[in-house]
Amino acid sequence: MGEQAPLHWTDPTGSDKHFWHRFSPFYRRHFATLGPVGRVLEFGVLNGASIRWLRGLFPAAEIVGVDILPVQPDWPADPAVRYMRADQGDRAGLEVALVGLGAGFDLVIEDGSHVPQHQAACLAAAFPLLRPGGLYVLEDLHTSLPWHALYRHHCAPDTPGSLHLLLAIEHALAVGRPILPAEAARLAAPGLFSAGEVAALAARVAAVEIFRRGSLPLRCWSCGSDRFDYVALRCGCGVSLSLAEPDSMTAVLRAGASG
Ligand SMILES: C[S@@+](CC[C@H](N)C(=O)[O-])C[C@H]1O[C@@H](n2cnc3c(N)ncnc32)[C@H](O)[C@@H]1O
Repeated sequence: MGEQAPLHWTDPTGSDKHFWHRFSPFYRRHFATLGPVGRVLEFGVLNGASIRWLRGLFPAAEIVGVDILPVQPDWPADPAVRYMRADQGDRAGLEVALVGLGAGFDLVIEDGSHVPQHQAACLAAAFPLLRPGGLYVLEDLHTSLPWHALYRHHCAPDTPGSLHLLLAIEHALAVGRPILPAEAARLAAPGLFSAGEVAALAARVAAVEIFRRGSLPLRCWSCGSDRFDYVALRCGCGVSLSLAEPDSMTAVLRAGASG
């Protein structure tokens, strides 16, 4: 993200969650089901825009921001917000750091590196921290589409990642049957999910909803303009706005009773 956008463009987020991906109405609908919110965790702080947004949405909550970076000068300094430094790519270190936070989170948002292996590591390690009925947001799930550059860079062809797993869990819930052991084994891959992690997530996830933007962004992520060529589906600066791009997917998962 570049400069802070003017307020009339941003709604409360000031983050690309709203002006580019247009995730925020989808989130608002799910967050309204949470009831009182006491603990929130977000991976990926960047310039603190989404921490400020979460602070406004959940004024009574303790908010934990996790990032590979040390605390930056523009991150909100607030007694209700604390920061933890962790690398999503260091699976063992991440697990230790998360265990230290303890369970009982109402909401976890994963908006970090978007590398498929990191998305899997966070989902496996942080989903168990949710209280029953809590929500896990896996943002920028489109990077696990097999034709996305990050997937192609980090995964061999046909490697199952978070998107495959969430599609499988959503499908199994929709048709009313469990994920079978052979299916769990097929969804496992080194560096992503083990068969045990697939089984544990399938057993605990009570609902999955996947969102994909089907409209134009409010403004361009690159130049900030809202003057688009509606026929070529491009911003005036050249950025593609085609709906065929692997872009702007997110998922909300609800935790069932703890195992
Ligand atoms: C997409 S930005 C976060 C945006 C922010 N949540 C918002 O909506 O304003 C991604 C963040 O992930 C952090 N990040 C990148 N790689 C990481 C890693 N391996 N572990 C933890 N954080 C990482 C970056 O430093 C950056 O702050």
